[in-house]
Amino acid sequence: MRGIIIAMDGYAGTGKSSTAKEVAKALKYRYIDSGAMYRCVTRHFIDHQVDLENEGQVEVALNQLVIKFNFNEALNQSEILLNDRVMDKEIRLPEINEAVSKISANPIVRKKLVVMQQQLGTQKDIVMDGRDICTVVFPEAELKIFMSANLDIRSQRRFDETKAKNIKVDFEEIKQNLADRDHLDTTRQDSPLMKAKGAIEIDTSYLTFQEQVDKIMEYANQLIYAS
Ligand code: DC
Repeated sequence: MRGIIIAMDGYAGTGKSSTAKEVAKALKYRYIDSGAMYRCVTRHFIDHQVDLENEGQVEVALNQLVIKFNFNEALNQSEILLNDRVMDKEIRLPEINEAVSKISANPIVRKKLVVMQQQLGTQKDIVMDGRDICTVVFPEAELKIFMSANLDIRSQRRFDETKAKNIKVDFEEIKQNLADRDHLDTTRQDSPLMKAKGAIEIDTSYLTFQEQVDKIMEYANQLIYAS
């Protein structure tokens, strides 16, 4: 039995994060939501009115923020902390959805977060999901997954998810935001979202959540128990 890195990239709303979380739980691995890290940076930049065009301000703001992951035993889930404050709803608000693609396209921001993510992976036994995890953060990961699904299905999933968090949302607004983010994430200069060399593509449009998890578990177990 060996410890591996499971890297997962894909579009928003493909069920990537919930699938990654479930796979990590089943394997007793750490789960790292790299999108939540970019969301924390966005929260911090909005709160401190950081001017993205001002490199000095961006550097200072990045040096001021500490992002940590913690496993909350009581809730049986991992949580992300920004400067020691647990972040949940405050990084899922529409204002964050609107700003996060632009802020995460900034090369200074990406450089800093990629280093943090690579450090988290040094001990293996980790599942990390995002947009550049297979291509940039862990190109040598033992298991690389690329998740896709059709836009209407993804919009419905995001709509249900956001509503469940008691955040008021409009379906068409969500769909437009996802389409805009797909465009920004796939066309940006620095580490655009794309299927990495050696990644396995899973289209989740017509898969149940359990089917998605089972597929990845099958690949993972083959690698973990390979002699
Ligand atoms: O997965 P998510 O929707 O929470 O991600 C939020 C944004 O962060 C997404 O629009 C693109 C960006 N992101 C990124 O650029 N690289 C990653 N590894 C993860 C997320």
